[in-house]
Amino acid sequence: MSWEVRPCTSADEVCAAVSPIWHYFGRSEPTADQLERLTRVMPCERVHAAWDKSGAVGGAGAFPFELTVPGGRVCAAGVTVVGVLPTHRRRGILTALMKAQLEACRERGESVAYLWATEDTIYGRFGYGVASFTAEIEVPLDRSRYSAPFEPLGEARLVPPMSAESLVAPIWERVAVQTPGMFARSSDWWQARALPDPDWRRQGGGEMRCVVLEVDGAPVAYALYRINVAWDRGMQTGSVGVVEAMGDSARATAAIWRYLLDVDWMARLRAIFLPVDHPLLLLVAEPRRLRFGVRDGLWLRLVDVGAALSARAYAAPGPVVIEVVDRFCPWNQGRWQVSDHGTKRTDATPELRCDVTALGSVYLGGFTWAQLGQALRVDELRPGAIARADSMFRADRAPWCPEVF
Ligand SMILES: CC(C)(COP(=O)(O)OP(=O)(O)OC[C@H]1O[C@@H](n2cnc3c(N)ncnc32)[C@H](O)[C@@H]1OP(=O)(O)O)[C@@H](O)C(=O)NCCC(=O)NCCS
Repeated sequence: MSWEVRPCTSADEVCAAVSPIWHYFGRSEPTADQLERLTRVMPCERVHAAWDKSGAVGGAGAFPFELTVPGGRVCAAGVTVVGVLPTHRRRGILTALMKAQLEACRERGESVAYLWATEDTIYGRFGYGVASFTAEIEVPLDRSRYSAPFEPLGEARLVPPMSAESLVAPIWERVAVQTPGMFARSSDWWQARALPDPDWRRQGGGEMRCVVLEVDGAPVAYALYRINVAWDRGMQTGSVGVVEAMGDSARATAAIWRYLLDVDWMARLRAIFLPVDHPLLLLVAEPRRLRFGVRDGLWLRLVDVGAALSARAYAAPGPVVIEVVDRFCPWNQGRWQVSDHGTKRTDATPELRCDVTALGSVYLGGFTWAQLGQALRVDELRPGAIARADSMFRADRAPWCPEVF
């Protein structure tokens, strides 16, 4: 059976191209509403599909993102809706889609691609490395007090989510611009993705609510959350489900979480997709009660090693010479001299040697070169090179992406 990979040219083709992943959601294709929301933020040509005579049998899309990296932002592909029909699996279709997608990213000048993986075994072979951990908590609210008395801050106000963009978008942007892993949200993204609350997203929970915390009339923090009410013999067993919550300062962040932890009638609070350095860990008196759990989060690939490494800032001048192995994107293979003046090809003797996946792990600052060394993912060819690279790549906060895209 033969098939060819090419980008979509219409919304109808996008509908066909994403139907393989919808198969795994238990549906044959997206609803008209889901398709409209997707195509508002993903141009048709950013969706590649594998076509055979029956139609699309595999697909992969990429959101055009501006991703925050240490010290700046880069054009990045936010890879999503990846699927191959079970009738066509393990014939190399995903491999062909990944190749076409990465070549298209390179042509567009997107030096980085990143994604959330539904399985941790899929993307390493295509050059993606684990770039962050993501955390979740499930805390009994009667064990959630802060360790020090907390003075309430500002005024909390409930706002209909679809009217909240002008209040919450500036807060997101202030946080996003200094948090590696977060991306700039367009107005379309707010209106099509972040603020709507279609039934299928509730999964049995309550409506999504939006609370905005204002100080002297200026929004400083917000939360999107659900009340999931439940009772057992007259006792509350329900939970607050946090969709996303953030503040533009430490006080504002502590205050918005205090609001969420103090909702009456609820037994627990559950939040997912938190950064591993979330301030709640040190704010609460009983950190064990958070049941803070971590797993792999973002996976990131350097599409263009020279451009990507030049685009981020470094905490020390360097340089360090890295020999990169990249079989899937051979244009990246070779020796690179990385310094705070930029990254360029070099003939100099390499000091570190690693696969491109290792660069994906250190790029946002989620892992250190020392950790890569301990995991046998980098060869230190000159003593001290790992420590020097770490002094350069060090970042002062953990990468965070609050939503799965
Ligand atoms: C994951 C998926 C896209 C793979 O598509 P595919 O066309 O079968 O992949 P390929 O044939 O190109 O496989 C390439 C290689 O990856 C391996 N591989 C693919 N999917 C894998 C998985 N889920 N776990 C482990 N290995 C996997 C294959 O065994 C193959 O290895 P090989 O080159 O050593 O033979 C497909 O199985 C699928 O749609 N799964 C369900 C949806 C999903 O998980 N999508 C990803 C969303 S992030």
